[in-house]
Amino acid sequence: MHQKFVVNGGRRLTGKITLSGAKNVALKALAAALLTDEQILLENIPLITDLKLMVKIISSLGVEVSFYKKNQLKVHAQDLKKAKVDLDMGAHLRTSSMLLVPILRRLQQAIVPNPGGCRIGARPIDRHIEGLRLMGIDVSYNSADGYFYAQNKKLVGCRYRFSKNTHTGTETMILAAVLANGQTILENAAYEPEVDDLIRLLNTMGANIHRVEPRTIVINGVKKLHGTSYRIMPDRNEAVTFAIAAYVTGGDLIISGTQRFLLKSFLEELDGANACWEPVDEYTTRFYHQGKLKATYVKTGPHPGFMTDWQAPWCLLMTQAEGESIIHETVFEDRFGYVSELCKTGANISLFNPKVKNPEKLYNFNWSDNKKGLFHALKIKGSTPLHNAVMNITDLRAGATLVIASLGVKGESILHGIEHIDRGYESLDTRLNALGADIKRMTEKSS
Ligand code: EPU
Repeated sequence: MHQKFVVNGGRRLTGKITLSGAKNVALKALAAALLTDEQILLENIPLITDLKLMVKIISSLGVEVSFYKKNQLKVHAQDLKKAKVDLDMGAHLRTSSMLLVPILRRLQQAIVPNPGGCRIGARPIDRHIEGLRLMGIDVSYNSADGYFYAQNKKLVGCRYRFSKNTHTGTETMILAAVLANGQTILENAAYEPEVDDLIRLLNTMGANIHRVEPRTIVINGVKKLHGTSYRIMPDRNEAVTFAIAAYVTGGDLIISGTQRFLLKSFLEELDGANACWEPVDEYTTRFYHQGKLKATYVKTGPHPGFMTDWQAPWCLLMTQAEGESIIHETVFEDRFGYVSELCKTGANISLFNPKVKNPEKLYNFNWSDNKKGLFHALKIKGSTPLHNAVMNITDLRAGATLVIASLGVKGESILHGIEHIDRGYESLDTRLNALGADIKRMTEKSS
């Protein structure tokens, strides 16, 4: 049964909130746990539907996996026996492709579907596959059934330079290299803090991985990994979502779990926009509305740049800033699906393509995936008073943005497609309601 949110907006959000564990680490930690036949205990696991799906997928392979406390997961891959990931389940999840390496290591073959995830671009995995082949894995894609087929070959360390940044591509190569023969050097590797959290988990399992330069990772293959317990880092994307909820509702929120050194580019843009924040303690930050916001120019990019995941909430914030703001999205080629929905609230946003000298170099997506008619930048005119609306959610970060947009306006808004939000935010409605929001979760009437 599909559900919707009915939001009675216009209420100021105040109080304290704690960030959940990072989705983009937790899902990968489950893949990493399959590299050993010993037990892995994972703490600070977000209770989101993507995680539940990943649990279902690895259970279907024969892995014992269960919650032993709220937000704490026990994974024991002693009896991993199936090499094939179910197409329907795997195709819904970006991280399912990261199961290829652990399954291959354990069973000498792996059959894994072309991964899904939010539809924000073509999202191919050519950079992952190129690297895996260099390590000696025989992998081919069968477009007739949508599966990647990988065969056993002895994994050998290699030197691989990513042509462009890839977050899960870097993580996939790390998983392959930890138990490979010899040393692997990954150049132009992703620098996202979530990659480092996965590295920390693997090192506590006995791996030998070092980031020797910001974009160079050296992995010395080891014979075996062992069991451990590990606490997943807090979710940076939640921090940004809640901070912007504070501003657009004229509120005042204290967010705990904010590792400010990992939010640097966001905090710098907040300063540029005149948005108020202040440290409370090492891991707690206050975000509060005060005075007028200023327009900004923001270009998304791989870490330490301004994350693409923050682009939609930033656009919402800029509808409330004085003047004309620009956002140039350079990571995904099609991440503006929410704009037409946000415009239903009266936002003044137009799409355009900035002049770019060398698009092949600037954009993180493969330029060959750039389809005619796609735009890569937004012009936002503010400040604009927004009003309530009925909106459709098409992806995760966009969905959370439309929820907080609804919280910032008076009257009743209705949001369809909230399953996209549940994929990546633990109980978003309940947690926002505890801060003063009025969001009702209701079952959609079937037509
Ligand atoms: N790309 C390719 N070929 C590849 C790999 C990537 O063309 O082989 C392109 C992608 O299509 C994209 C760009 O390169 O245009 C960057 O892709 P990347 O591989 O870095 O992203 P991802 O691993 O697919 C992860 C997160 C995203 C987050 C990005 C950027 C997970 C499961 N997903 O995606 O998170 O936006 O990195 O940091 O870790 C989200 O949480 O809502 C989300 C979309």
